[in-house]
Amino acid sequence: MTFSRADCGPVIPRKMSGSPAKPENNSEAINQRVNALLAEMTLAEKIGQMCQLDASNGYAPDYLADGLRAGRVGSVLNVADVNTVNELQRVAVEESRLGIPLLVGRDVIHGFRTIMPIPLGQAATWNPELVKQGAQVAALEASTTGINWTFAPMIDISRDARWGRIAESLGECVLLTSKLAVAMVEGFQSDDLSAPGSIASCAKHFAGYGAVESGRDYATTNVPETKLRNVHLRPFKAAVDAGVTTLMTSFSDLNGIPATGNEFLLRQVLRDEWDFDGFVVSDWDSIRQLQIHGLTENDKESAFEAAAAGVDMEMAGDAYSKHLAELVEEDRIEVSDVDTAVANILRAKFRLGLFENPFTNPADLPPIANERSLDTAKQAALQSVVMLKNEHNTLPLSAEKLNSVALIGPLSDAPYQQLGTWIFDGDLDLSVTPMHAIHSLVGHDLDVRYVRAMENSRSKATEAFDEAVEIARDSDAAILFLGEESILSGEAHSRADINLPGDQAELVRRIRETGKPVIAVILAGRPLTLTNIVDQVDAILYAWHPGTMGGPAIADLLFGIESPSGKLPATFPRMVGQIPIYYSQKNSGKPPSRDKIVHIDDIDTRAPQTSLGMSAFHLDTHFTPLFAFGHGLSYTEFDYQHIRVSAKEIGLGDTVTVSAELTNRGDVAADEVVQLYVRDLVASITRPVKELKGFLRVRLEPGQTITIDFDLHTNDLAFFGRDNQPTVEPGVFHAWMGGSSETELRTEFRIVDGDQLSG
Ligand code: NOJ
Repeated sequence: MTFSRADCGPVIPRKMSGSPAKPENNSEAINQRVNALLAEMTLAEKIGQMCQLDASNGYAPDYLADGLRAGRVGSVLNVADVNTVNELQRVAVEESRLGIPLLVGRDVIHGFRTIMPIPLGQAATWNPELVKQGAQVAALEASTTGINWTFAPMIDISRDARWGRIAESLGECVLLTSKLAVAMVEGFQSDDLSAPGSIASCAKHFAGYGAVESGRDYATTNVPETKLRNVHLRPFKAAVDAGVTTLMTSFSDLNGIPATGNEFLLRQVLRDEWDFDGFVVSDWDSIRQLQIHGLTENDKESAFEAAAAGVDMEMAGDAYSKHLAELVEEDRIEVSDVDTAVANILRAKFRLGLFENPFTNPADLPPIANERSLDTAKQAALQSVVMLKNEHNTLPLSAEKLNSVALIGPLSDAPYQQLGTWIFDGDLDLSVTPMHAIHSLVGHDLDVRYVRAMENSRSKATEAFDEAVEIARDSDAAILFLGEESILSGEAHSRADINLPGDQAELVRRIRETGKPVIAVILAGRPLTLTNIVDQVDAILYAWHPGTMGGPAIADLLFGIESPSGKLPATFPRMVGQIPIYYSQKNSGKPPSRDKIVHIDDIDTRAPQTSLGMSAFHLDTHFTPLFAFGHGLSYTEFDYQHIRVSAKEIGLGDTVTVSAELTNRGDVAADEVVQLYVRDLVASITRPVKELKGFLRVRLEPGQTITIDFDLHTNDLAFFGRDNQPTVEPGVFHAWMGGSSETELRTEFRIVDGDQLSG
């Protein structure tokens, strides 16, 4: 049988306008096309599909065309110019024997031209719908350049603020990360991957990467299987269930086996247990790094380990292209395993409709950076900002009552820095800084002064502090824009000291001395330790790196156009030595409490050493964090009352409803993020003291009361037990509702075996 393009659907050359051809994309039809195509492929062409090449070194068709013609390239990354992408696709579909189009990958992490807040900031919105809209905007903008695959979402559970990549993550919580992972996958992919403006997504980094030792990027990870399953794998399972097209392996080794050669993860969990039918891509050159890890002696053995473990595509390396054929000829890798990997990849290409529409005409898609995208970016920034502190209702500021404000600090007017990490394609011209936004919002009503005071966030030069002090002294309030430049977080940008860098704390101290109200707006890529400034300021808005529309969002919040409503997606330690500190910790056999701790300054040297506390705390700091997971203040006051359950006892397989009344007691309308936490009191393995089991963003008018109901099925209370199998165990559960993980409003219910139900 000879192969013709009709067997895998028509390639429509240079289709540049009109509505795109609709591929037949039910799984059976796709599998038939995949099999027909596979049957025509040589081993070299199959291996070609498993290779992704870097296209960022000059005009890529110049150096990739030969490989494309020979069918040696399945995918490229890091090219974002539509003409270049179209030319690469043209060579692939018109000049190669089988005409297989390319996957074009890119890190579209939190926006493309229009930049949303960093993912950690988006997580602070606790708003899956808004996060989904942000991903839709990013997908649409990216797809105008021919990009059809993003390496997002990054869903590594991150409990270490030293790790620079916490910025890219959705925080520390299994449920919050899982829900937002699904929202992002749905936003990027829509419900039809072949629809214009949809792109494939990639859940990364599989798995355990967030557990790198001491928060040092790429370092080793050690996570017992039970914890892996109860914590780190769960968001990936949610993404797989939501139809994520691809997964990327982690750079790190996990329990001694690098993730890129980890058969347990890639075969047992992902394929056998989860039935994943997408494909797995390595991280950048991480197959060859198996040798550097010390797992293999050379690139050939690295190719073997990765292919045997189930890595379908190699990113930016040449271990597969150089060695896979030989490994097949030596019968060390089965052709059927190569076929499976290639089928996984081809399936994605068919689902994307690339065989029908390999080319991109930006004119077929809506204009980018439009009103909708900017509005989504502003909404996301607005809802991401967390008000950590607001003494004496310093905020909101009143443009009517004040005559002047002083804007001070290195991040007041830093259009690039506010965009955060991973913004290869961000449009700097769209970025509106707080300084500009405050001028346009209130510049007519009050005198807005500005002194940058520091060249950048790391600066140690204090010469300009006097001028900053002067304008603060002459103004009614000082707003300090502090934090970290974007380069201080993200990949390979971990920090051991997570205080405000440079001499920012000294700047705060100097401004404090003026006696004027001091508001700190902090732009950063991680939770910083704020202990040395928290008492020096009256109010803190934590804005993360808020993206393109960060300025207008911050201005609206400062002047009360909108009330802050973000909630922390990660715990804020008092000092770095407390890390890892997270809300869902275990109780231990000696839990600390206020009456069971002593501070180093209060140690009575005459008392026997053993009288000191005897519980799980540090002598030189508190056992609690500075700001807890879920914390976030508002311009109104929310009051929770009357928590109750629909049944005190439920059987396995039943649902209990946990309800409470929520009232807005203040005089402004505002959003609240209601949080439901549960504790399984006694179980066959120790369970967290609290686990988030539900959350809901609601808006309440002044004086309004609403009832909040969360349905909890007993499956929602399942965990992986001693045998690493999911289990739900009968017994008592506590349930709390409130506006942060510190809520004390509690009820309880019991799960009983079916025949024990009373009444
Ligand atoms: C390395 C990073 O770990 C990964 O997240 C990213 O997607 C790839 N490089 C591609 O840029």
